[in-house]
Amino acid sequence: MSELQELETEILASLDAADDEAALEAVRVAALGKKGSISQRMRTLGSMSAEERQHMGPALNGLKTAITEAIAERRQVLRRQAIAEQLAAQSVDVTLPVRPSPSLTGRIHPITQVIDEITAIFSDMGFAVAEGPDIETDYYNFTALNFPEGHPAREMHDTFFLEPDEAGGRKLLRTHTSPVQIRTMEAQRPPIRIVIPGKTYRCDSDATHTPMFHQLEGLVVDTTSTVAHMRWVLEEFCRAFFEVDAVKMRFRPSHFPFTEPSLELDIQCDRRGSEVRFGEGEDWMEILGCGMVHPNVLRAGGLDPDEYQGFAWGMGIDRIAMLKYGMPDLRAFFDADARWLDHYGFRPLDIPTLFAGLSS
Ligand code: DAH
Repeated sequence: MSELQELETEILASLDAADDEAALEAVRVAALGKKGSISQRMRTLGSMSAEERQHMGPALNGLKTAITEAIAERRQVLRRQAIAEQLAAQSVDVTLPVRPSPSLTGRIHPITQVIDEITAIFSDMGFAVAEGPDIETDYYNFTALNFPEGHPAREMHDTFFLEPDEAGGRKLLRTHTSPVQIRTMEAQRPPIRIVIPGKTYRCDSDATHTPMFHQLEGLVVDTTSTVAHMRWVLEEFCRAFFEVDAVKMRFRPSHFPFTEPSLELDIQCDRRGSEVRFGEGEDWMEILGCGMVHPNVLRAGGLDPDEYQGFAWGMGIDRIAMLKYGMPDLRAFFDADARWLDHYGFRPLDIPTLFAGLSS
């Protein structure tokens, strides 16, 4: 066998052994690259005798062409192999059952749902949503809201206090969302129309009380708002929230340090069956406290009570969620039991709006 034939056999063998593109490229460089075995031999043609060159020239060119073609062929084979391997590895078994998407299996907690429903109703009436911190000072939670020092109403709130700081001041977990009234008045000039949903805390626990619960506060401050406006706003809210055409409401005199006069709102209901029904029946159910903002509260918010007036209300979100959706025990709200959530929760993409329906 001639030397060139030997070289050809050798290169073809290493081509066969190259099992990926990188190995193939290495074989190509070793044969046809600048310092490759074929290229080096081509370079010796110049120093050959004319006779020798006449013989070696075509032989070397033939070898070069043969190897170039063999490399191209091998490359095709390797590419096809790689694609076949990829297809095999990434194949999809279309006979497998479809896995349900999170938007089908996930559930929105009833509290979140009810907050979304309530804020949808009040946004439609032109209210904005405001928030404040869960950890409050005594000043914002009590003093600025016209609770005098040592007043028994402070004790009634069963407050959770934090450890005193270096100056002896004790922060607390807010017992209601009312402190955000003061924070809003400090930050913004009237007209103010806000609702404040949020977590609140009191040291209390039974079937209808949990240490952490939720409230929704409302505040309107301008120069002309009256009890009549408050009544309309709350009536519209109840009608929209309980999704009935008419609700009978009853205001009873009450007392809160931060409102004067203070009222409690009851709505008509029927408790005879296994669930409470609204817009019918002979019973009354208390759903919120409200009143005209006390002049001292306006002052604490930096507003002149001779110029400004307004109304406020506060209601327990958890309680009205229980009423609307017939959930008997408040503690289950916070047990994080997936079965409970599966039963009482809402579909994530059913976003409550007034035009599409709140809970449908
Ligand atoms: N902060 C009161 C509570 O937690 C509820 C309340 C009553 C809020 C009357 C108000 C209001 O804004 O006007 O019991």
